Amino acid sequence: MKENFFPKKVLLGLQEGDCNLSCPKCYTHGENAPTLSDRKTGVMNFEKFIALCEELAPYSPRVTPQTWDEPLLTPNILKYLKILKDFNLTVTMDTNGILLNEKMAKQLVELEIDSIFVSIDAIEPETFEKVRGKDVLHLVEKNVLNLLKERGDKLLPRIGVSFVVEDNNRSEEELFVQKWKSLVDVIRVNKEFSPQRQVEGEVSPIRTPCWSLYDSIMVNYDGSVSLCCVDTHSEVEIGNAFDDGVLNLWNNGKVGEIRKLHEEGRFSEVGICANCNLWSNESPEIKKEEGFVIAKTYTHYFVNNEERLKSIPHGNRYIKA
Ligand SMILES: C[S@@+](CC[C@H](N)C(=O)[O-])C[C@H]1O[C@@H](n2cnc3c(N)ncnc32)[C@H](O)[C@@H]1O
Ligand code: SF4
Repeated sequence: MKENFFPKKVLLGLQEGDCNLSCPKCYTHGENAPTLSDRKTGVMNFEKFIALCEELAPYSPRVTPQTWDEPLLTPNILKYLKILKDFNLTVTMDTNGILLNEKMAKQLVELEIDSIFVSIDAIEPETFEKVRGKDVLHLVEKNVLNLLKERGDKLLPRIGVSFVVEDNNRSEEELFVQKWKSLVDVIRVNKEFSPQRQVEGEVSPIRTPCWSLYDSIMVNYDGSVSLCCVDTHSEVEIGNAFDDGVLNLWNNGKVGEIRKLHEEGRFSEVGICANCNLWSNESPEIKKEEGFVIAKTYTHYFVNNEERLKSIPHGNRYIKA
C-alpha cells in the first residue's frame, strides 16, 4: 500500500467573506465572481483552529492563513499568526496591503512571518482603481516600502509584490517589474484566471495530472475542504477537516479518486477540472539575469532577487530553497 503523504501547503480560511476591496477579477468579491451569493462565510472556531494546528505541526506544511479574502481583516489575526509560528509552521500570506500600516508591519516582522506578498497590479492610480476597485495605490505602495524598511536586512519576512495581468493593466506589466525589482525580494506576475478557470494564451501542450492534487489543500472556515484553491465555492465535496483530519482526507476518498482519474487522463470526468487549464502552472523554466533568478511557467513568472534567495520558504514549487 502506498504510504500516506501530507500536503505541502495548507490554505486556512480563518475568516471568509470579508474584504475591503472589490477587485472585478476576484472569484469571491468581484463583479464576475461565480455564484457569489452561494459561498458559505464565517470565522473559524478557535478551538478547532488549535486542533488543526496540532494535526499540521508534525508535517511542517506551509500555511497560508486565508483563502479568497483579506487576511488582515481576520479578527485578532496577530494572535492566530503567533500561534501558527509557535507551532513552528511556515506562514506565507497574500494581502491587499491596505491594513499593512506601521504598527502591523512591525508586528509581522517581529513574528517572523515567512513570506508576505502584497497585491498591487498597477503603477498608475487610475489603473489601480480599475483593477482593484478603489483609489488607494499610494497608500499600498507606502505600506510596502515601510514594511521593507521595518524588515531591513533581516531574513524574514520575504517580501514580494504581485501583478495579475488583465486587459486594463497589460501596458504596465513591464514598467511594474522594472519599478519594483530592485526594491523587493520577489515579484510575482500571473495571467488572470477567468471565471471558467482558464488563462488566455499558450498552455502546456500535453495535459498532465494537476500539480495541485499533490501539493495543496484548502480548508474553509467551517472545516469543509475544497478540491483546490480555485474551488472557491466548494463544488467538490471532499469532507470536513475538523471531523476527518487533513491527512485522512488527503489520502483517502474523493481526493484519491480524483488523483487516479487525472493519472488515467480522464480529466473530463471531474466536472471542475474538465475545462480548467490552471494545471499548466508547473515545470518552471529557470534563468538567471543580472542578479535576478526568473522562474517561468505558462501561467506565472517570478522575478527573484538573487541576494535574497535564502528567504524562499521550504517546499516552494518554483525555486528550491
Ligand atoms: C484572492 S487574493 C486574497 C488575498 C488578498 N486579499 C489579496 O488581494 O492579495 C490572492 C491573490 O489572488 C489574486 N487574484 C484575484 N483574482 C484573480 C483572478 N481572477 N486571477 C488570478 N489571480 C487573481 C489577487 O490579485 C491576489 O494576488
Ligand atoms: S483584495 Fe483580494 S480578496 Fe479582496 S477583492 Fe481583491 S483579490 Fe479579492
